[in-house]
Amino acid sequence: MSKISVIGAGTMGNGIAQTFALHNFRVLLYDINQENLKNARSTIHKNLNRMLAKESITELEIQNTTKNLIYSNKFEEISSSDLVVEAISENYETKAILFKKLENYCSDDCIFASNTSSISITKISENLSTKHRVIGMHFMNPVPIMKLVEVINGRYTSAEVTKKIIDYSKSINKTPLIANDYPGFISNRILLPMINEAIEALDSGVSDVKSIDGIMKLGMGHPMGPLQLADLIGLDVCKSILEIMHTGLFNEKYKPNKLLIDLVNKGNLGVKSGEGFYNYSNSKKAEVVSKRFLK
Ligand SMILES: NC(=O)c1ccc[n+]([C@@H]2O[C@H](COP(=O)([O-])OP(=O)(O)OC[C@H]3O[C@@H](n4cnc5c(N)ncnc54)[C@H](O)[C@@H]3O)[C@@H](O)[C@H]2O)c1
Repeated sequence: MSKISVIGAGTMGNGIAQTFALHNFRVLLYDINQENLKNARSTIHKNLNRMLAKESITELEIQNTTKNLIYSNKFEEISSSDLVVEAISENYETKAILFKKLENYCSDDCIFASNTSSISITKISENLSTKHRVIGMHFMNPVPIMKLVEVINGRYTSAEVTKKIIDYSKSINKTPLIANDYPGFISNRILLPMINEAIEALDSGVSDVKSIDGIMKLGMGHPMGPLQLADLIGLDVCKSILEIMHTGLFNEKYKPNKLLIDLVNKGNLGVKSGEGFYNYSNSKKAEVVSKRFLK
């Protein structure tokens, strides 16, 4: 049974860890922040029980998943992994330091996958002497539900590593699809300009939060409006992805909207902070629009 380490126990990391553990992998979920590890444990517990209530998993599967998961803030415990999935903050410098450290700790045949939304896989691997083992394994949010894994080959990624990531993705019941290593890859290159435009429309007074989201849901058949989706992704993550595409693709159309920047500076990051375009203080349901966006 392969051992997977997931680094970063935030929005994505806890979903990735839960999904691997549910599919019988031994999983170590590592974070530098003890509080985030604690929250990840309770989020996973809640998610599994929700799945049980919907009869999509059994009580036995919950027991096995829980047994397969270890929560840790001891980096050295990662060293025995077959696959490391990195899901830390969307910042190149932080990721580059982490990958260099991983190279010093892990065995030569351990694969290093990044869940980055937009940062170049080639650039992340640049400082390593074993560049061939670095690959993008981009999960979608919420991980336990969304079927896609966008697999990104860097310039140095070996064919063997790509094949293994495709196999890992299939073994956790996901569908891997390949993209090349351009900022934002495919998913975010198309999604984030739409979110940015929805924020621009709100900021210019074209319409309000509920109408913008309602129009995109009812009119375009989207399961969730772009502003609610931005809250779910995290407004800080949306801003980072847009910045990376803005500089990486040399195009003004990717520049983050001023309202998005203001909200992030105020700490209004969406679901994870309790408020973004919607307010989540009473429940995790996006029912109440944040007061600042009520006319
Ligand atoms: N949020 C989304 O919808 C989404 C979707 C796909 C991909 N991603 C990508 O996944 C990654 C994580 O995003 P997120 O939304 O889960 O972020 P998040 O802010 O919710 O969580 C990041 C976690 O990483 C931890 N962390 C930061 N630096 C660390 C380090 N050096 N070592 C260990 N832990 C560290 C933080 O303590 C935090 O718990 C980013 O690269 C993001 O672009 C996000």
